[in-house]
Amino acid sequence: MKILSGTSNPKLSKEIAKQLKLKPINSNIKKFADGEIFIEINENIRGNSVFVIQSTSNPANDNIMELLLCIDALRRSSAKNITAVIPYFGYARQDRKVAPRTSISAKVVSNLITNAGANRVVTVDLHTGQIQGFFDIPVDNLFTTPLFARYIKKKFKTKNLVCVSPDVGGVQRTRGLATKIKADLAIIDKRRPESGKSEVMNIIGEVKGKNCIIVDDIIDSGGTIINAVDALKKAGAIDVYVFITHAVLSGDSAKKIQKSKIKKLIITDTIDNSFKIKNNNKIEVVSIAPLMAEAINRISNSTSVSDLFN
Ligand code: R5P
Repeated sequence: MKILSGTSNPKLSKEIAKQLKLKPINSNIKKFADGEIFIEINENIRGNSVFVIQSTSNPANDNIMELLLCIDALRRSSAKNITAVIPYFGYARQDRKVAPRTSISAKVVSNLITNAGANRVVTVDLHTGQIQGFFDIPVDNLFTTPLFARYIKKKFKTKNLVCVSPDVGGVQRTRGLATKIKADLAIIDKRRPESGKSEVMNIIGEVKGKNCIIVDDIIDSGGTIINAVDALKKAGAIDVYVFITHAVLSGDSAKKIQKSKIKKLIITDTIDNSFKIKNNNKIEVVSIAPLMAEAINRISNSTSVSDLFN
């Protein structure tokens, strides 16, 4: 088994490699002056199972292209099989035609990865589970629920907790966490009047006098979460904690969070935000590396990945 690190999140790749007691493959990944990407593998990988780690976060298009070229370089170097480990799978929100004559970008990206030569994909908290079917190769979709549940059980003293889904689409994920930590469930009825804007219409469930835990897959502009927190506070919630897998954190969202009524935002490191969240005392990172390393180990040994979540 070998690990190849892309350039989107070298910190996470390094941590995963460390957990697996491996040294990442010696490679050169550079850009020519015109922006084209060049990949070179500097060691023999013939017959090896290679896991290439690359989040397709911002700059999404460059990071996708780099992943495709890494897969191609590995294929042409006679790797036995290639697993694309994509901690954050970008374009996942474009998983259907939202209007006539629009593209289904998540499907296009899935086709590109498969056609480049990947034999398997490992990712974390896909925006919708159905995206697994966009690939004609096996996909292991890892969940952060056990990671977040462990954090809550370790750090939260209060029993007066309710897990809140910030929209109807996130109910299954939120129910999973609520069941694990034995908390109640509430749902926010969110509306998007236009892309990038969100409004809270109603709160379904009891939040008055309770500590709320919002759980979601992505925080991007921060609009969904900040509006949800405001609505929960207005409805009588005590403190609101937020758990997010993929911290896209575009624009000045990190600053908006710092100024918001959020008690604490807990994110994972599927996307490297070290620079953006430096000095932000409301945001804390829990690493996904041990979970990813364990999944890679199990895939490599042909043992069950789903057992990790039972
Ligand atoms: C939407 O379905 C996702 O799960 C997130 O709630 C959404 O992408 C968050 O976006 P923003 O932070 O821009 O409101």
